[in-house]
Amino acid sequence: MKKMFVVSVLAAASGFVQAQTVNVICSVQAEWCNMIGTVYAKTTGTKINVSMKGSGEALAQLIAEKDNPKTDIWFGGTGDPHLQAAELGLSLEYKSPTLPQLQSWAQQQAQQSGYRTVGIYSGPLGFGYNTELLAKKKMQPPKTWADLLNPALKGDIQSANPASSGTAYTMVATLVQLMGEDKAFEYLKKLHANISQYTRSGTGPIKAVARGETMVSISFVHDAPGEKMNGFPIEAVTPTDGTGAEIGSMSIIKGARNMDAAKKFYEWALTPAAQEMAAAAKQFQVPSNKAAKVDPRVPDFKKIKFINYDYAKYGASAERKRLIARWEKEVNSLPR
Ligand code: F6P
Repeated sequence: MKKMFVVSVLAAASGFVQAQTVNVICSVQAEWCNMIGTVYAKTTGTKINVSMKGSGEALAQLIAEKDNPKTDIWFGGTGDPHLQAAELGLSLEYKSPTLPQLQSWAQQQAQQSGYRTVGIYSGPLGFGYNTELLAKKKMQPPKTWADLLNPALKGDIQSANPASSGTAYTMVATLVQLMGEDKAFEYLKKLHANISQYTRSGTGPIKAVARGETMVSISFVHDAPGEKMNGFPIEAVTPTDGTGAEIGSMSIIKGARNMDAAKKFYEWALTPAAQEMAAAAKQFQVPSNKAAKVDPRVPDFKKIKFINYDYAKYGASAERKRLIARWEKEVNSLPR
């Protein structure tokens, strides 16, 4: 009796009795993933396991885990693969009571997926550039998609690979919508000649720009201010001829082992306080909760020329697979 009491007091004191676990795949940058993990564990006593994966890689893992899910929540990453996960039945239908507090684009993402995903942030695609490297070459920053084909940029542009990276898939889908598919692929083939490498992660290229390893990147522009704050000579622009935006999303995994914990985390992640952590971790997407503060470094959407990105079409499983396969076959296989 006495022994049992000691054990239960110790267990209660350590929080062990109530402690829940939640397993999260996190597809934003490490600083934000780490902050979420630390703050959530501290404030709720939940054990949180965070593993970081690009959007395409996260989807591949969830497909592989389908019959025996090890993930409870997929937090962040571009919306297209979240829509694909919804279509493939990998994510759970869940209508959050917080939905009415979210921006219309975040609610639309939920509706389009049959409430199997939700928008948590948004941000525009554009170009990052290293101001010192450009000045050394006496070059102007790129303003349009066509500017990236300038032969003077040969070997000086980085993009991610659309198979692993949601950023790069957003680029392919944006160009297809902007130019028409065949013209977009002609463009991507020409661009290929100027690309030094296709990175796995979408943020690889902008980090390379910041560190002077490449002059220009195709990136989400909300990833530039954080590099600038770290003291790197970097700026970002959106193309004047039009660009796409991501709806960064979050999904609960169907069959999650820790369903109760997953739903609690999900609700927490939609609160203004949780969403404001992005800027605190130097990431400057627009938060989806209307009451979350918008940092002045967040790109001003009113000044950007957006295409009318068709999320349903480009987040459809067959379309995403087809475009990535076409890119592999017709672009990535070409010599440089
Ligand atoms: O800030 C990180 C970020 O740009 C997110 O906005 C985006 O959802 C994610 O990276 C995409 O990463 P990846 O291209 O590696 O899938």
